[in-house]
Amino acid sequence: MTYQVLARKWRPKAFDQLVGQPHVVTALANALDTGRLHHAYLFTGTRGVGKTTLARILAKAINCETGVSSRPCGKCRACTDIDSGRFVDMLEVDAATNTKVDEMRELLDTAQYMPVSGRYKVYIIDEVHMLSRHAFNSMLKTLEEPPEHVKFILATTDPQRLPVTVLSRCLQFNLKALPPLALAGHLKRVLDAEGIPFEDAALAMLARAAAGSVRDSLSLTDQAIAFGSGKVMASQVADMLGAVGGDLVWPLLEAIASADGAGALAEAERISERGLSCDQALQDIAGILHRVAMAQHGAQLAPDEPDTARIAALASRLDAGRVQVMYQVAVLGRRDLPLAPDEIAGFGMAVMRMLSFGTTASGEPLPVRGAPAVPAPRGEAGPAPSVARNPAPVAREPAPAVREPAPVAREAAPVAESAAPAAAAIAFDGDWTAFVDRQNFSGMAGLLARYGELDSFEGNHLQLAVPEAHRMYAEKSYQEKLKAELAPRFGAGFRLSVRVGPTNGKSVAAVRGVEAQKRLDGATAALESDPFVRDLVEGMGAQVVPSSIRPAGDREPESNENRRGKP
Ligand SMILES: Nc1ncnc2c1ncn2[C@@H]1O[C@H](COP(=O)(O)OP(=O)(O)OP(=O)(O)O)[C@@H](O)[C@H]1O
Ligand SMILES: [Mg+2]
Ligand SMILES: [Zn+2]
Repeated sequence: MTYQVLARKWRPKAFDQLVGQPHVVTALANALDTGRLHHAYLFTGTRGVGKTTLARILAKAINCETGVSSRPCGKCRACTDIDSGRFVDMLEVDAATNTKVDEMRELLDTAQYMPVSGRYKVYIIDEVHMLSRHAFNSMLKTLEEPPEHVKFILATTDPQRLPVTVLSRCLQFNLKALPPLALAGHLKRVLDAEGIPFEDAALAMLARAAAGSVRDSLSLTDQAIAFGSGKVMASQVADMLGAVGGDLVWPLLEAIASADGAGALAEAERISERGLSCDQALQDIAGILHRVAMAQHGAQLAPDEPDTARIAALASRLDAGRVQVMYQVAVLGRRDLPLAPDEIAGFGMAVMRMLSFGTTASGEPLPVRGAPAVPAPRGEAGPAPSVARNPAPVAREPAPAVREPAPVAREAAPVAESAAPAAAAIAFDGDWTAFVDRQNFSGMAGLLARYGELDSFEGNHLQLAVPEAHRMYAEKSYQEKLKAELAPRFGAGFRLSVRVGPTNGKSVAAVRGVEAQKRLDGATAALESDPFVRDLVEGMGAQVVPSSIRPAGDREPESNENRRGKP
């Protein structure tokens, strides 16, 4: 028995078998069912998303012996011949190998003859962007005034390279790369039908590795089946993909998010001990951070992917700006691996950089715990600011408003719980500054808490005052966020109100601000001369924005806004 590769065996034969592309399918089906045929179609999209497949289904739809419709019978001579690539009136050309003008002319010369057995002569020109300019020109004449019995179906991954004259004569459809969830779902259906055992996590990995291509997802699955001797199991797929595997990278990222330096370095060691590629580990980390950033900027997380909850948790624990920096560190770390004394050292350095640059979700500098290779905890260092411990040095343009992580992310992982497990136990004794200092308020709640000054606290009614200059932190959305954080700590009947007006300069922000300013100049100078920062600046066009620099130990939360991603 010969094994037919899945991608060929599972080429959709009808519109309703296509995965994704609903916009294209609907438009085409409507046009076919109402008899509105165009003489030239252009399918664009990345590799393996269904361009050729759609072209063939369309060819059937217009040539099926039962009539033109969106539901070709699939049984008549025309349908079966098209399916098997034997239909005399369908000419499939791969422009990548037939770029010459003569070949094109020869082909188009045949357009004048009537179809032999079908209703229409169909020219499918794949990779049409590869045609030479002359070949395009000779095609143009036919495209302009095609005989009634001729239909063109062009396909390309690179529509930008098509002359406008060609584009303007075609009805264009853009096929989309498929989201991992759709690919995993497709793989599940295929493997179920094939009777091949699998684990969902394995399919999720394969789907992600396929990067949007259905064909690639099926080819990788073929490999996985061979690799796993007839089964598709997560651990084997991880090995096959050379992936470090979630089990190893996740604890590392989680340790970094908790500012657990010792833990992170131990995890990094575990990864290298397992003999896994450091390059792959950094790539996986970058991949995860990309998804975290997406979640922070409002992208929907697919609910049933295995990693969703973890992504959401990281999205709410890590400051958006920090995620950006960590991502850059991972990407640059890969680039620098060959230059490192050895791979493991290069990987370790990247991990330490991720630990060193950034803040917690509440905008505080990271207190790095017990990592031998990173500087001592804050407050113990001498007067010279330590560059390595400074928070996010890469600054983007200041964002106009604080962007909160996506609601999805928040629901899945309440911020306060992961960041401050002991918070609920702390009682409020009337000293707001000290209270805020001990809490781990994040994001908008943190800003209001730090800029707010205690006006009064009576009958479980807390009144804060915010100076005119920071009026925005008194806005309703900030109040609601802080109230949600405080309510569980203050108990039943808790009320919060915020006044804008004169204050005494006793807010956490004001108190810390004075100390911070003193150390800022030193920090800026040190930061700008740091080779890694120079790398970020030169390699990525990043800019060090002075207002975003904070010396180690500083808690001034205002620059938190700068570190948040743009909305
Ligand atoms: N949307 C889809 N739904 C289901 N299967 C698909 C889809 N797109 C691609 N496939 C699978 O991938 C295989 C290749 O698809 P197809 O040849 O249509 O891709 P393509 O977009 O033309 O790619 P290329 O740019 O490489 O030519 C098909 O045989 C099928 O198994
Ligand atoms: Mg194709
Ligand atoms: Zn038919």
